[in-house]
Amino acid sequence: MMTSFKFYNYKTLDSTNNKARDLAKKGEHDVVVIAGRQTKGRGRFEREWFSEPGGLYMTVALKIQDADKIKYLTFIASLAVSKTIRNLTKLNALVKWPNDVLIGDKKICGILTETILGRTNYALIGIGANINQKTFPGSIYHKTTSLLIETNKKYDIKKISSLIIKEFGKLYNHYNKKNYKKITDEWKKYSHTLGKKIMVKTTNKNYIGNAIGVDEDCSLLLKLNNGRIKRIIEGDIFTV
Ligand code: BTN
Repeated sequence: MMTSFKFYNYKTLDSTNNKARDLAKKGEHDVVVIAGRQTKGRGRFEREWFSEPGGLYMTVALKIQDADKIKYLTFIASLAVSKTIRNLTKLNALVKWPNDVLIGDKKICGILTETILGRTNYALIGIGANINQKTFPGSIYHKTTSLLIETNKKYDIKKISSLIIKEFGKLYNHYNKKNYKKITDEWKKYSHTLGKKIMVKTTNKNYIGNAIGVDEDCSLLLKLNNGRIKRIIEGDIFTV
């Protein structure tokens, strides 16, 4: 059965992930929280997420059984965004491990997946997609893009959000059926990462190697120069 989602729309929030967390703590799930702007949008590793009007700021709250499989939800979200962009435009939107969508080598979307673990577990999948922004702050200017910048057109953010959720729902259906291979296969098909020589920065070490695959935990498999395969669970990657 396809999940149906309930939408909550706000003009301004500190962070849609925070609002989704409050709702999940009250027992709500299968909800989508959307804000026109965020005053404290955050990215991975507590980085700030530029959240001016014109972007899509959205969090999906789900009840989950298996906290081990959480990374699939991040994959699903980035795939849903890249598919929506492909369907709406001629852009070649690709997914970057672990949580981004790129156009060319520029970031158009980032995903921040958080959890609430307890007697009931929840996943909060925060999606930040650049839609109608004309420009970005200096620190991210060269590595960031938006649909407006790429296509010279303005988009209806509400419509895009519902298209993304539609694609998300289809993939989430595979997840619910534990058909994880379908998700990794799709991810591989649209991957910007695989087959490239990359550098991975983890909290305490950097690695250089060839990105050769992802395993059943969605970890990245890196073939090092000495031939060893290094499994990367978390980190930032750069092409070299
Ligand atoms: C990243 O690339 O580091 C992840 C960015 C995630 C940003 C989104 S915007 C909606 C949701 N609310 C937040 O505060 N963050 C996520």
